[in-house]
Amino acid sequence: MTQRVAVVTGAAGTIGQGVIENLLEHGRKVVLVDRDEPRLRAARDRFAGQGEMMSVAVDLLEETAPALVAASIEENGWQPATIVINNAAITVKHGGKSHDILQMTLDEWALVHRINVTAPMLMARQFLPAMVAGRWGRIVNISSRAGRYNPHQAGPSYTTTKAAVLGLTRSIANDFSKHGVTCNSVAPGLVMSDMTGQLTPQLLQALVDRTPAGRGGSPRELGAAIAFLASEDAGFITGTCLDVNGGQSMA
Ligand SMILES: NC(=O)c1ccc[n+]([C@@H]2O[C@H](COP(=O)([O-])OP(=O)(O)OC[C@H]3O[C@@H](n4cnc5c(N)ncnc54)[C@H](O)[C@@H]3O)[C@@H](O)[C@H]2O)c1
Repeated sequence: MTQRVAVVTGAAGTIGQGVIENLLEHGRKVVLVDRDEPRLRAARDRFAGQGEMMSVAVDLLEETAPALVAASIEENGWQPATIVINNAAITVKHGGKSHDILQMTLDEWALVHRINVTAPMLMARQFLPAMVAGRWGRIVNISSRAGRYNPHQAGPSYTTTKAAVLGLTRSIANDFSKHGVTCNSVAPGLVMSDMTGQLTPQLLQALVDRTPAGRGGSPRELGAAIAFLASEDAGFITGTCLDVNGGQSMA
């Protein structure tokens, strides 16, 4: 059987590493996508020998980025990707805290929406035709606990985009599941990363204190949930959101 090709955005980041690790273990050929070229190289080195990988350094702010990723995959002689993990995202903090909507600039609002919502939509749009043609596809969009429950310190731009990711997920699932393409989201709770490193130590401690598991999650724990939703076995799961948050919020 041909190994399926999986695109992972934000692959150079913390959770991205856990996603790469788990997808390689599932036997996927993994396309590492990120704008941070040195960390992209470091990620490839870290997993060298564990499976087939290629990397594409692009800024997802560029509308042409998904086409560039697809062209690089073709140049590499791989089949078109039938798994897309939309993991790249940003948050904007000021002295470790979020601005409320009175303080926040429209530029921040637009930038965060561009990367956290528009880029995943464009990436899905790039690879959906091949998934539909092959009657098999998996799209996993990374949301956030803050997009589903009380946002606490997450701030309006980040919170709103992470809620929008849930709507995008359900919309794609509604339209494409009949073609064998599932679309789901994962809502991580606290995972220590560059993103959470922008918070003050006090805010970070408050997040741990609110988590029944008493700790943050590991990239591997997040990657395992994401790789499951991208697996053959998850074919009847679509349009849903999987909370991976140590019990910080429950429904
Ligand atoms: N860490 C947490 O506690 C947490 C909690 C909830 C949700 N999440 C979500 O998990 C995902 C991964 O977060 P993380 O903690 O690993 O963050 P991270 O900052 O470690 O990684 C994010 C990666 O995305 C890349 N990226 C950002 N903007 C980009 C762009 N325009 N073009 C290309 N690459 C770009 C960055 O270079 C970085 O490597 C995000 O969607 C985030 O919102 C994280």
